[in-house]
Amino acid sequence: MRLETLEILCSPLERAPLEFETRPAINGDATQFLVNHEHGLEFPIRNGIPIFVEPHQITGINGRFRKIYDRWAPFYDLLSRVGLYILGVSEHKLRKEFVEKLEIKHGDRVLSTSVGTGADLPLIPRECKYYGLDLSAGMLRVCQRRIEELGILVELFLGQAEHLPFNDETFDVVYQMGGINFFSDQGKAIREMVRAARKGSKIVIMDETEKVARRLENIPGINAWFRHHHRPIIPPRDLIPAGMEQVESCELYDGQAWYLSFRKPA
Ligand SMILES: C[S@@+](CC[C@H](N)C(=O)[O-])C[C@H]1O[C@@H](n2cnc3c(N)ncnc32)[C@H](O)[C@@H]1O
Repeated sequence: MRLETLEILCSPLERAPLEFETRPAINGDATQFLVNHEHGLEFPIRNGIPIFVEPHQITGINGRFRKIYDRWAPFYDLLSRVGLYILGVSEHKLRKEFVEKLEIKHGDRVLSTSVGTGADLPLIPRECKYYGLDLSAGMLRVCQRRIEELGILVELFLGQAEHLPFNDETFDVVYQMGGINFFSDQGKAIREMVRAARKGSKIVIMDETEKVARRLENIPGINAWFRHHHRPIIPPRDLIPAGMEQVESCELYDGQAWYLSFRKPA
């Protein structure tokens, strides 16, 4: 993690400011931490990634999905390509069209609140500052490898989309692609996206529809995601906070994806 990133970070629950601390290694654990002594807070930095939530603190459906994503992370890119192929959707086209909708401008700070393996990264304009958060250490490890291969600068964080470790009004674009269907608290995750977005910023969310869950829930491997799904997938239009502007909501790819975007008032 770069030192300058400190200025955008806070503790995810108390929103307290954080500072760097380096200590000698004990039992091979982290030597770098983000701390706030006044609040008695410390978050280890492991392999360059600040850890804002430990596995035992992740409960409910988030805990279940963390385990699924950790287990499947090495195969996620392949499974996702196969899943999209079965649905008749080109992954490259889908991601290219999605990234275009983000309307990223030169110098923008862009946040993905579930970056996964970073499959969007090859298509993200190089001249932005990109930050990715995810709750699966396994997915972030794959993402780190991709970042190294691409030779780009990206900051990663392990945390929950419902409790973002970022100061208010930090990002010019905030997005969520895949995942939110099964977040523990979709409303909180959307309110957090709005809080972390600067005034006038675009917020974009997309995920698969119920139609897809029905088609994929019996396919071995891919069904890991859908066999636990205990509530019908409904695009969370009603959870967009009041007062947001330019609200767009539609279904794409033959009704297989839902799409929501809106702007925080300037
Ligand atoms: C379907 S994958 C999508 C990953 C990536 N956005 C993509 O387009 O390939 C969903 C991701 O959401 C992450 N995730 C699930 N629940 C989360 C939560 N509550 N907060 C943050 N990330 C979460 C998972 O670990 C996983 O990496």
